[in-house]
Amino acid sequence: AFPRDLTGVKMVVSAGGTREPLDPVRYLGNRSSGKQGYALARAAAQRGAEVTLVAGSVADLAPPAAVELVRIRTAEDLAAEMRKRAVDADVVIMAAAVADFRPVNFSDSKIKKKGTDPDPIELTTNPDILRELVTARSAGELSSETVLVGFAAETGDENGGVLDHGREKLARKGCDLLVVNAVGDGKAFGTDDNTGWILTADGHETALPLGTKTLMATRILDAVTPLLPTSSG
Ligand code: PMT
Repeated sequence: AFPRDLTGVKMVVSAGGTREPLDPVRYLGNRSSGKQGYALARAAAQRGAEVTLVAGSVADLAPPAAVELVRIRTAEDLAAEMRKRAVDADVVIMAAAVADFRPVNFSDSKIKKKGTDPDPIELTTNPDILRELVTARSAGELSSETVLVGFAAETGDENGGVLDHGREKLARKGCDLLVVNAVGDGKAFGTDDNTGWILTADGHETALPLGTKTLMATRILDAVTPLLPTSSG
């Protein structure tokens, strides 16, 4: 049996990678499998939350039971869904790996090889969705009680780089809780296990020992629960 401590809580979770199209057959993407976001959505629903899962490109994952599943492709699609759905949410968790940049041009036909020198791909910046949600909350477009959770995928060695980058990112993004994952060397992206830290805006830092993404989801939700207003928590 699962605790039903998230009963009545509306949660939106993003998962997987975005794909930024270049032409009908090519895209810029990343190695996110969606496993961590799906595990969060499943665990939250088991604890009674009303969950919407907004998923980009993911591995062959079973949709979690009792979760509304919305599929998106690009960072701009994801931004539009999150802006819309965050308005009614008590908790928003950005576990998706969002492309920071997208190609400026989409070619309607397959880009052909001409000569030996490739044409450069010109990129432009995608919206920073998490940052936008924080700004929208400050502007009163979201409830001041909405809990905003980010993830950070950081390369670096165990203690130094990863945690320092995470602290810096928490401050820069302005969310309430940041889950910092160590990535690279085959870690986090696509795996069944995850490890890292939970950092909160009020200064708590909790190490997450290596464990399944399901266990990680439980620990993350345990850290989110105390941030909810008591009426809905
Ligand atoms: O999907 P899996 O294979 O299970 O792997 C899980 C994971 C490693 C992808 C996941 O746990 C994770 O760390 N996701 C975030 C990875 C990431 O892209 O981090 P980032 O440092 O680029 O972004 C930081 C935060 O800002 C994230 O919450 C991200 O969703 C958000 N973001 C990033 C860019 C952007 N344009 N808009 C955003 O909202």
